[in-house]
Amino acid sequence: MKRLEGKVAIITGSAAGIGRACAHRMAEEGASLLLLDVAAEGLEETAKQCSERGAEVIHQTCDVSDPEQTRAAVAAAVERFGRLDTLVNIAGILSLDHTHELGLERWNQVLAVNLTGTFLMTQSALPHLLESGGSVINTSSTSALAGMPYAAAYAATKAGVHAFTRTLAVEYGKQGLRANAIAPGSIKTAMGSRANLPENMDFSLIQRQMPIDKPRGPETVAGLVAMLASEDGAHINGECIRVDGGTLA
Ligand SMILES: NC(=O)c1ccc[n+]([C@@H]2O[C@H](COP(=O)([O-])OP(=O)(O)OC[C@H]3O[C@@H](n4cnc5c(N)ncnc54)[C@H](O)[C@@H]3O)[C@@H](O)[C@H]2O)c1
Repeated sequence: MKRLEGKVAIITGSAAGIGRACAHRMAEEGASLLLLDVAAEGLEETAKQCSERGAEVIHQTCDVSDPEQTRAAVAAAVERFGRLDTLVNIAGILSLDHTHELGLERWNQVLAVNLTGTFLMTQSALPHLLESGGSVINTSSTSALAGMPYAAAYAATKAGVHAFTRTLAVEYGKQGLRANAIAPGSIKTAMGSRANLPENMDFSLIQRQMPIDKPRGPETVAGLVAMLASEDGAHINGECIRVDGGTLA
């Protein structure tokens, strides 16, 4: 299926995990891509893999929490490809802590990447997306929809991303822009395995965030993102779609 032929997309957080899987899928569906991440090595590998799938692809290290870098990244995409159709905000970090021990610095860091990063990328991309009648796809989480213990900062950012997405949908919908969010849950990536679990945590509390069947890989999210970016998603706006194996069904 080549639903994204002639389309240009930016994907943040594309050095690994869900971002990399989305890059693969969007490349296979014909999109030209600008890939962004702070992890240079993984980013280069993703770009190579997308080229092998026939996509025109450029990549650039970019910290999404830095306004200068996000502006420069969007400008680079438009300069190279002449247009922008889709912004996929996937970059994110997770911190698990007892809330009473969560330091302000850590709280601010999680907000800066997950929430402010989504805002900065979107703000820079908006003029170009409005020109093309394009769309924004943001990454929320099941933690925004049902309490996730030890994830105070993370869950707050993901709920913020959800609300931000709905704002965009109604504010710009009449001008032809769509904004949607995805809410993954239990996707097997480095994020879960890398997270430092807080000492003395109660495992029984996190059971409600477990899928009813089993965890699955990031490719299970990529098909949804490609659909939202395509004409198949033309009438979907302001939605937040769970990809969580039924965890919150
Ligand atoms: N894995 C899951 O089950 C799950 C569930 C809910 C939501 N999510 C969300 O999906 C997104 C992708 O997560 P993942 O599971 O693939 O994890 P991941 O750690 O494999 O990927 C996250 C990517 O974001 C990049 N990144 C981190 N900080 C950045 C910054 N400041 N600027 C640019 N890039 C940065 C990382 O280098 C990494 O490549 C995240 O927003 C995450 O919160 C994942």
